[in-house]
Amino acid sequence: MTTVQTTQTFELKASDDIVAVRQAARRLAVSLGFGIVDQTKVVTATSELARNTVDYGGGGVAIVETVRNERTAGVRVTFEDHGPGIADVEQALADGFTSGSGMGLGLGGAKRLSHEFEISSKVGEGTRVSILRWK
Ligand SMILES: Nc1ncnc2c1ncn2[C@@H]1O[C@H](COP(=O)(O)OP(=O)(O)OP(=O)(O)O)[C@@H](O)[C@H]1O
Ligand SMILES: [Mg+2]
Repeated sequence: MTTVQTTQTFELKASDDIVAVRQAARRLAVSLGFGIVDQTKVVTATSELARNTVDYGGGGVAIVETVRNERTAGVRVTFEDHGPGIADVEQALADGFTSGSGMGLGLGGAKRLSHEFEISSKVGEGTRVSILRWK
């Protein structure tokens, strides 16, 4: 069972807001004893999803948490927006798919950098993406 130890919520409205979310993810990963490589994985995934929230979701929130299970601790970051939503999530996850001018690598990359990945999206309602990386 995964239990939440700490929670911090950040508004994500513009590019500048991404910095604070990245820093929080890094700080928590460090506090849990993540090595530099694993810190970078969680921060990179966080960055990509925060960027999507700002660029495509019209802004939203990021909830940065430390969690525990029976074995170890982890960092979970959840992004929520009330933007246009994603019509085809599978397509959005595929490497190379972009509706903008990106490389189309962010979502799939964030998934690969995480141990747990959840996405739910509804057209006209918004998008929720959650990543978790265990120590
Ligand atoms: N929060 C969101 N709301 C609406 N659409 C989204 C959201 N996040 C991603 N998408 C859609 O999924 C597509 C793929 O996202 P992904 O992050 O993989 O690529 P990208 O942002 O286009 O490019 P890159 O991340 O490589 O710069 C986006 O182009 C966009 O159409
Ligand atoms: Mg992206």
